Amino acid sequence: MTKNDNIYPIFDSMLSRRDKEELLGQHSVMVWFTGLSGSGKSTIAIALERELHKRGLLCRILDGDNIRSGINRNLGFSAEDRVENIRRIAEVSKLFIDTGIITIAAFISPGNDIRQMAADIIGRENFLEIYVSTPLEECERRDVKGLYARARRGEIKDFTGVSAPFDVPASPALTLDTSVLTLEECVNRLLELVLPKIQKREI
Ligand code: ADX
Repeated sequence: MTKNDNIYPIFDSMLSRRDKEELLGQHSVMVWFTGLSGSGKSTIAIALERELHKRGLLCRILDGDNIRSGINRNLGFSAEDRVENIRRIAEVSKLFIDTGIITIAAFISPGNDIRQMAADIIGRENFLEIYVSTPLEECERRDVKGLYARARRGEIKDFTGVSAPFDVPASPALTLDTSVLTLEECVNRLLELVLPKIQKREI
């Protein structure tokens, strides 16, 4: 008896992404929102998910609420922690993508290097970078969570746009400024971009 006698390769191979996509009747893709706090990333992500869901497409949103309070609860906002935050999110996203699920991430992801790392982990061919370009003044005027005011008072350090950097993406697939576009307009532009990539053609 050789070492390999008890290995049954046919049972060992996991089903592939293509198998899962076939089951779901869709192609998976990564929709990666980047932008300042309060720019509208989560709002747009939620509205996009609803529209895709209505069309029978299975999505998963990853955002601060389900990530920073769970898998990444031990991370803060130092440059190092932000890299680790995004690295884990990218690895988790990859699992969803490999399950055939349309994956939508809404994180500041402030650096070109950080976003490049995410794209490398997930696969560039799967990665749609969407820049929510709402200007800082508008995000600060809205200040939904009151964090900008606290950051200006020095109560929060390393706050993106105030005391920590944000790199404007060099060549996003789409740029959405919520101080100019309505939510509906943002979602319509996204649908135009995303639907042709995820809807399976009838054979
Ligand atoms: S990222 O930079 O690591 O991508 P992430 O999107 O996960 O950030 O979290 C950003 C959210 O955390 C902000 O919308 C805000 O509510 C909150 N937050 C708390 N402290 C900071 C900070 N120092 N800089 C930016 N956002 C912060």
